[in-house]
Amino acid sequence: MTPVQITAVGHYVPSRKLTNADLEKIVDTSDEWIVTRTGIKERRIAGEHEKTSHLAIEAARQVLHNAKIAASKIDLIIVATTSPDSNFPSVACLVQKALGARSAIAFDVSAACTGFIYAISVAHQFLLAKTYKNALVIAADRLTTMIDWQDRNTCVLFGDGAGACLLESGDKKGILAEHLESYGEYGELMKIIVPETRHPLKPKHANGVLPYIQMQGPELFKIAVNSMADCVEKALEKAKITISEVACVVPHQANDRIISAVAKKLDIPKEKFFINIEKYGNMSAASAAVALFEAVELGRIRKGDYAVLVAFGAGLVAGAIVIKWQ
Ligand code: ACO
Repeated sequence: MTPVQITAVGHYVPSRKLTNADLEKIVDTSDEWIVTRTGIKERRIAGEHEKTSHLAIEAARQVLHNAKIAASKIDLIIVATTSPDSNFPSVACLVQKALGARSAIAFDVSAACTGFIYAISVAHQFLLAKTYKNALVIAADRLTTMIDWQDRNTCVLFGDGAGACLLESGDKKGILAEHLESYGEYGELMKIIVPETRHPLKPKHANGVLPYIQMQGPELFKIAVNSMADCVEKALEKAKITISEVACVVPHQANDRIISAVAKKLDIPKEKFFINIEKYGNMSAASAAVALFEAVELGRIRKGDYAVLVAFGAGLVAGAIVIKWQ
């Protein structure tokens, strides 16, 4: 099979910060509660005109710049998102248009916080099958537009952002193995409530209530820990690599305590995990993508290193990918 590797990474986060102190003015919470329960100190909030496609386009541009590749040479664009600008056109098609990637096919993947891993995995299959030679994989989310800002259980957790990478076929194997899992039976634990405002027999908007996230945090916590640890172990087994050989684990950044518990379950030091949750909170699909970008930028993942990307999210869905950084 054709070896596939990640040849460039990129990211974009909005400049506007929302600190825990800012949230103390909105809901009954405290910096102390948020930091000790989640590890989050601040998060980025997209401006009114920074739609998900804008975040995705900026991250994609950085990848093309870093890879020194023209947009016209891109074969496939996949955007992992659950907060698209609208149901259609897809964010991927908006990216294709903005970049002028005329030869690419483009579509979105919906797998919540695990979206980056699912999207890399989908792109990987196209490259393995030699259908395409390269793929621009972007994870972009703007969940802050779907938050009930009166609900302290959820509003302190999320932020906006985008991360991206370029997958290319070549002579070196960079993606060693992947393992994906889905548990639809637990879907009720985290969902977006969409009030039915339009119906042919009820032509007027019912009450104008916007969709909002509802989450059962403590139940999700346990499944997140078990599924992430399980996916790491199964992906490593497929790659025939032991956890002690891994230089860096790049996890979805939902909660610092979840990451601690996964480290404990895998029996590895927490220092092996790349963590940036304090700056960004949970950016859904973008979390693992931005963390991968920063881990590479900061030298936590170097040439020849083994690394594992792992995530868990609404659906519920989980997954891990073992990579060798080329
Ligand atoms: N400030 C102050 N108090 C709060 C806040 C807040 N922001 N939020 C909740 N509390 C209170 C609760 O009301 C509760 O009070 P009570 O005991 O008087 O009822 C108390 O704090 C404890 O609440 P818990 O929900 O038990 O707190 P917990 O320690 O479980 O932390 C958290 C909550 C952070 C949500 C945690 O459960 C978690 O991280 N869960 C997993 C989240 C996750 O992984 N989501 C899925 C991924 S995201 C995606 O897929 C898009």
